[in-house]
Amino acid sequence: MNVLKTCEDLRKYVEAHSVAGNTIGFVPTMGALHNGHLSLLTRSVKENDVSIVSVFVNPIQFNNKEDLRMYPRTLDKDITLLESAGCNAVFVPEVAEMYPEGEIVAEKYDFGSLETVMEAKFRPGHFNGVAVVVKRLFDIAKPTRAYFGLKDFQQLAIIKSLVNQYDIPVEIVSCEIVREEDGLAMSSRNVRLKADERKQAARISHTLFDAVQYVNKKSVDEVRKFVINAINSVPLLSVEYFDLVDAATLQSIDKWDDAESVVGCIAVNVGEVRLIDAVLFL
Ligand code: PAJ
Repeated sequence: MNVLKTCEDLRKYVEAHSVAGNTIGFVPTMGALHNGHLSLLTRSVKENDVSIVSVFVNPIQFNNKEDLRMYPRTLDKDITLLESAGCNAVFVPEVAEMYPEGEIVAEKYDFGSLETVMEAKFRPGHFNGVAVVVKRLFDIAKPTRAYFGLKDFQQLAIIKSLVNQYDIPVEIVSCEIVREEDGLAMSSRNVRLKADERKQAARISHTLFDAVQYVNKKSVDEVRKFVINAINSVPLLSVEYFDLVDAATLQSIDKWDDAESVVGCIAVNVGEVRLIDAVLFL
């Protein structure tokens, strides 16, 4: 596996493969890799001639300095995992490589109503930071396909909008959420949970799966309240938001037939760790 450190290294690597006519699968990550990330890579390996993973803790998408400071970094282990999962090249730039101008960047993207709800409301600037890094990575890696997880449901919608707005010639592939045995969505942040927090965190997905059974039986508002109350009643969990939204527009629904497909998106504070999850309701 090639370990590429500079944009120039990545550019040259990609150029050699495009000249050879190879398709390129790309999986952007922030590292501290787990089976969720690896499932994206496995799919890329199946569908492309060459698979590239980036590992870059992107400072400009963190609205909370402490979250950035505490974000787990396990590069050596990540490299071993990637190698054994069939990755061809890993891109591991320094911050100055991605942001030679410094961390105040000029790009300001507009995602309309996608950036007024949920994560965007609670993490100001977050999606602009995501869009800036993903656009810069796409511009260099020029992937045929890029792989994103449905756990970050709103991020996926933002990336699709970015690709549409800028006519980026890449296919965005959405990948199912990989969960721990007790249902907790895998996340790099899970390693920060203390033992009792980790145990109680499983109640997030349990509650969401229970709530799916109330579709068309209880009102949308009753289901919202059910989820929020059930999770808040677990001592170490505190819901930041939960919403039932149209999967296409991410806007709140009032009635079950307001949207063709409905997703429940949630953010929960578990001690000092903020976790998100998303479950298809309809
Ligand atoms: P990160 O949180 O490392 O996630 C990288 C990719 O892995 C994302 O597409 C995310 O949705 C996916 N992923 C994470 N946990 C998953 C799980 N349990 N099952 C399936 N997929 C999962 O998302 C980011 O990094 C960053 O915002 C990034 C896109 C790299 C831009 O910096």
